[in-house]
Amino acid sequence: MALIKKNTVMKTLLKPLFAIVISLFALQSCTYTTPVEEELPPVEDDILFSTQIEPIFTSQGCTSCHAGSGASAGLDLSAGSAYSSIVANQAVVAEDPEGSLIYTRPTVNHYGKQYTAAEAALVEAWINQGAQNN
Ligand code: HEC
Repeated sequence: MALIKKNTVMKTLLKPLFAIVISLFALQSCTYTTPVEEELPPVEDDILFSTQIEPIFTSQGCTSCHAGSGASAGLDLSAGSAYSSIVANQAVVAEDPEGSLIYTRPTVNHYGKQYTAAEAALVEAWINQGAQNN
């Protein structure tokens, strides 16, 4: 009798304990995978030049050299002029990021400026989508 009772107690106590331990492992694996997934910036289906690419040139400070009539390399990256100037300077080749200066130059240090990984991914995706004035 005593043996049977002990077995029942063990079962009722150990079962929930196992469940707790297993769910703790499951929770732990979740917290470890999340940051890895977040490392790569999400690239949305349609990248818009006007709202996602052009603002980078201002926030990155590109326009401190690339703006107005005296723009470095004649490349004017200020709002409203950036797209036409990039095209006129042949700084973009549709569907060819590696052949596009607007992608390749600032992905490495360029006069103290450099795209973040997220910005580079956006510019690359925009070019791969045809480098449209959208
Ligand atoms: C401190 C000044 C300065 C800043 C800031 C700067 N650039 Fe430049 N950039 C230059 C100069 C000078 C040249 C031309 C000489 C050369 O190619 O190195 C140039 C050239 C370029 C070219 C090649 C243009 C061509 O037709 O040959 C691109 C593209 C470019 N810059 C993009 C950018 C972007 C994007 C940013 C911001 C992330 C930026 N630059 C920030 C000075 C700057």
